Amino acid sequence: MARFRHLISIDDLSKDDIVHILNKAEGFESIARGEKKSNILEGKILANLFFEPSTRTRMSFEVAMKRLGGDVINLTAQEASSIAKGETLADTIRVISKYVDAIVIRHPLEGSARFASEHSDVPVINAGDGAGQHPTQTLLDLYTIKKECGSLDGLKIALMGDLKYSRTVHSLIKALTLFKNEIYLISPESLRLPEEFLEELKGKIAEVKLEDVIEEIDVLYVTRIQKERFPDEEEYRKVAGSYKITPEILEKAKESLVIMHPLPRVDEIDVAVDYTRHAKYFDQAFYGVPIRMAILCEVML
Ligand code: CP
Repeated sequence: MARFRHLISIDDLSKDDIVHILNKAEGFESIARGEKKSNILEGKILANLFFEPSTRTRMSFEVAMKRLGGDVINLTAQEASSIAKGETLADTIRVISKYVDAIVIRHPLEGSARFASEHSDVPVINAGDGAGQHPTQTLLDLYTIKKECGSLDGLKIALMGDLKYSRTVHSLIKALTLFKNEIYLISPESLRLPEEFLEELKGKIAEVKLEDVIEEIDVLYVTRIQKERFPDEEEYRKVAGSYKITPEILEKAKESLVIMHPLPRVDEIDVAVDYTRHAKYFDQAFYGVPIRMAILCEVML
């Protein structure tokens, strides 16, 4: 019996569901690395519908499906589909859900994945809806923290950058509060976490400056300033390049500090940091494969 039919928001999952998916992913790691073979999803087909650019999410879902013996169809170029003729998202989903066993959707409109799930005959997985949620990213972020820090509790975790528009932060911060951690927020003033989150998480989070916590934090989760989400380019220019993690900044950090980033990176982490023991963001991208294998099996089997 599946624990959930659709995966739209991290709020759809209990702490127990999250721990279940993370444990399940552990068992898929050797298949994700190509060291072992599996046909557990043989005969199943996944539709990847990406109405916004993606490298990691789309490709790791495809790799997860294929390494488990399943197949994938992709809709990425809207101009080559009937959406270009005016077909609605609802009709597109109704039709595609007749062809496949599950749908992954990324769309620029907040709420679009929930809307798609209401018109689908098969499970829908949200791969990012505007500035809304990115729950599969959150699961792989939690998996990375567990792998690299050995626990999901008792940590000091700083979330840094664009906390206003970052859907990865909006999903992750809610999941982190299910565990016992100290959570710090670091952002330019204009990119603070939206008021509704600050209100909801009052007492569980603290807004700080990086220099105040760099010596004590266990995880530094850095995000990009997302130019594409700003309604006004002038507002983007005011904050572009306003922070950058360098090896010099990390001199005071714990040896065990783990630096994460959902990627893509632009200039907020100096490439020199990639060669330090702290850089875990490329491993984090790999962990997306076993996590998405676990999610696909949960909704398809
Ligand atoms: N982290 C993430 O969502 O990356 P992509 O935009 O490349 O999918």
